[in-house]
Amino acid sequence: MIYCNKDNVFHLQTKDTSYILRALPSGQLESMYYGKRIRNRDDFTFLYDKHECGYSNASPRSQKDTSLSLDHIALEYSAYGKGDYRLPAMDVLAADDNFTTDFLFSTATVSDYKPELHGLPSSYGESKTLTVILEDKILGAELQLFYTVFEDCNVITRAARLLNKSKNPIHIKELMSMQLDLQRGDYTMLTFDGAWIRERYKHEHKLLPGVTSFGSISGASSNRHNPFFAVKVGSCDELQGECYGFNLVYSGNHIARAEVSTHGLLRIQNGINPFEFDWLLEPDKSFDTPESVLTFSDKGLNGMSQNMHLFVKEHIVRGFWKNKERPILVNNWEATYFNFNEKKILGIAQEAKDLGAELFVLDDGWFGKRNNDKCSLGDWVVNKKKLPSGIDGLAKKINAMGLKFGLWVEPEMVSPDSDLYRAHPNWAIKTDTYEPTQGRNQLVLDLTNPDVVEYIINAMTDVFRYGHIEYIKWDYNRQLSDVFSHRKDARSGEFFHRFILGLYEIWGALTEKFPEILFESCSSGGNRFDLGSFCYLPQCWTSDDTDPLERIYIQSGTSYGYPQSVMTMHVACTPSFACLRQSGIEHRFNVSAFGLLGYELDVTTLSKFDKAAVKKQIEFYKQHRRLLQFGEFSRIGDFFTDNICKWQITSPDKSESMMGYFINRTIPNWGNDVIRFTDLDAEKDYDISTRVQLFSIRNIGEIINTPLPKKIDLEESKLYDFLAETVKLRCEKENYTIGGDALMASGFKPHQPFVLSGYKPGVSRILLDTDSRMYYLKEKSE
Ligand code: GLA
Repeated sequence: MIYCNKDNVFHLQTKDTSYILRALPSGQLESMYYGKRIRNRDDFTFLYDKHECGYSNASPRSQKDTSLSLDHIALEYSAYGKGDYRLPAMDVLAADDNFTTDFLFSTATVSDYKPELHGLPSSYGESKTLTVILEDKILGAELQLFYTVFEDCNVITRAARLLNKSKNPIHIKELMSMQLDLQRGDYTMLTFDGAWIRERYKHEHKLLPGVTSFGSISGASSNRHNPFFAVKVGSCDELQGECYGFNLVYSGNHIARAEVSTHGLLRIQNGINPFEFDWLLEPDKSFDTPESVLTFSDKGLNGMSQNMHLFVKEHIVRGFWKNKERPILVNNWEATYFNFNEKKILGIAQEAKDLGAELFVLDDGWFGKRNNDKCSLGDWVVNKKKLPSGIDGLAKKINAMGLKFGLWVEPEMVSPDSDLYRAHPNWAIKTDTYEPTQGRNQLVLDLTNPDVVEYIINAMTDVFRYGHIEYIKWDYNRQLSDVFSHRKDARSGEFFHRFILGLYEIWGALTEKFPEILFESCSSGGNRFDLGSFCYLPQCWTSDDTDPLERIYIQSGTSYGYPQSVMTMHVACTPSFACLRQSGIEHRFNVSAFGLLGYELDVTTLSKFDKAAVKKQIEFYKQHRRLLQFGEFSRIGDFFTDNICKWQITSPDKSESMMGYFINRTIPNWGNDVIRFTDLDAEKDYDISTRVQLFSIRNIGEIINTPLPKKIDLEESKLYDFLAETVKLRCEKENYTIGGDALMASGFKPHQPFVLSGYKPGVSRILLDTDSRMYYLKEKSE
């Protein structure tokens, strides 16, 4: 709902939040309130900033009202030059070399449609938009601020458009997507930072006077600092308290800033990173910022995450795969790397089918002479030595097994050793003067060049028609460097943004041509995990790190801003290639089951024991797929600080729920546990059961010998190996019927953890280092 009240006070209301702003009599926009929903009323003067006599040493905006210091007031969008000394949201340079601006309120309108942002993806769906227009008559420019209200998920999105109405060009050096000034408070910023195989670790920054800022200048949204961030108030935690969440619908260089001013106000901004940004805005042209996403919750960080999750599911992901259950896939990358032939691939696919998988994905290495990562990107011609019947023949054989077929591509790249590079060396991003820096032995194509964009669209159209392809993994494995375009009209200050506009043009064209292909984005794992890409490609390879312990951190961190329906999670081999840590097959599944499940290991070499476990896992996942992929996700406990954490996914009608219980390090004799739930219906009774997990006698070592009259040699004995493969011990069984009220208040006490003084089969809870359980709750039927 959007109320336009008297005195140009605007009240945006979602299901549980209110956002209030007004045009000051002087023309600037004041941020009045953003938080828990309040009733609309005629009179909001109680929220107006009170300034009667001004402040010495301030620079009042005008001699007409010397009490108004812009430095002391909460503003919706600020610029430099009129006495606000915090970082501005806008920095422009006029043709007369002037960088002072003064944008003042002109009009405001409410519409039922959402203005399209030129060249950029953005959210969609039922919503209303407030457009506030500010004008700087001296500069000759109009600033349009868009506020779109998504009531269902408590999200307000913002974007800005600058329109040049003068006769001269204007240089835009910085134009943030949004600015929000909040009142004095005790704030902590949560950012999600990392690197390759360590994406989106949560970090907390107490906000103190000064600027806390993060962003990316690598050309992508990056694995270094994800564009999503949160700001919590006081003692807010997962389950209670007030907090804000922010994101940006953008895949390129971004920035977010939180500035606590000397007067105690908190300024938050996000948008395109101003590093080397200089956009020449010609007369009559406009520039649109990416869309910024804001939410507020008074139900703790889980409330904030659930708002963001619903927003992504309903208003970002679109098309054929929106809210559709995703297939369980087997991918050959970690099984074969580049070393495969058709026979090997068909063997893996057949085994995948026998285990219950639904989609086989052929990863890197199928084209050109690509037997390592040093060549052939750009030469999208099937390697007939490896695949004599081509992609078409292979896809047919895989389809005949009853599996869908998917393929890997990395279209934005070119290897210096490729026919494409030899034909068009200047299509690669590189300067004329420096030896180009390579990343993974490759260069990036210049997507600011329309010829390159057209080439990629055509080349990929051909590839996607090579056979019956139902899934594409779209990879992007390096960062930009040596940024320079050989296009005739190129301006380097526009490069980074135009690169992303080129990418969106490609994604837009291909997803329109191939609406039913399931696209998964990937960038050495999660280097481009952002809302811009999710507008086109509905899921993303969360990380190249498939070690389950690391994945708990990565997936927990990712879950603050993104739903499990965009995160792909694969069971891989052990020890993990990322850190050589050993882990059990059941634990690897439990971690991967809380999102889009796949297997990324050589299923043909799995032990008998593991095959039996995997079959059961896939059956279990299929039974609960809807819940696991699209249910409402919560975190209980914080794995970044605690030894144990739980994830819980509950169906929207609260008739069923799944809990993942994860332990980092097992601690001997640490006493008993209590397991508490959240998000259930207090009125309902639930049947609880543990997922039956298998474990091998190898896990219990010498204890196997305790009851036996003759000891088995654990090192040498064939009998022991035979038993280890065939004897399938089962984890403890716990079955209870308990009311939702009790499960959320008292929880239940599970069986005693294993201790040396007595192991009882089927009763003792054996939890190894980095181990887990899954508990399934179903509403009790009458
Ligand atoms: C990247 C991806 C991997 C795999 C390889 C192939 O590293 O993240 O999953 O596809 O490329 O080269």
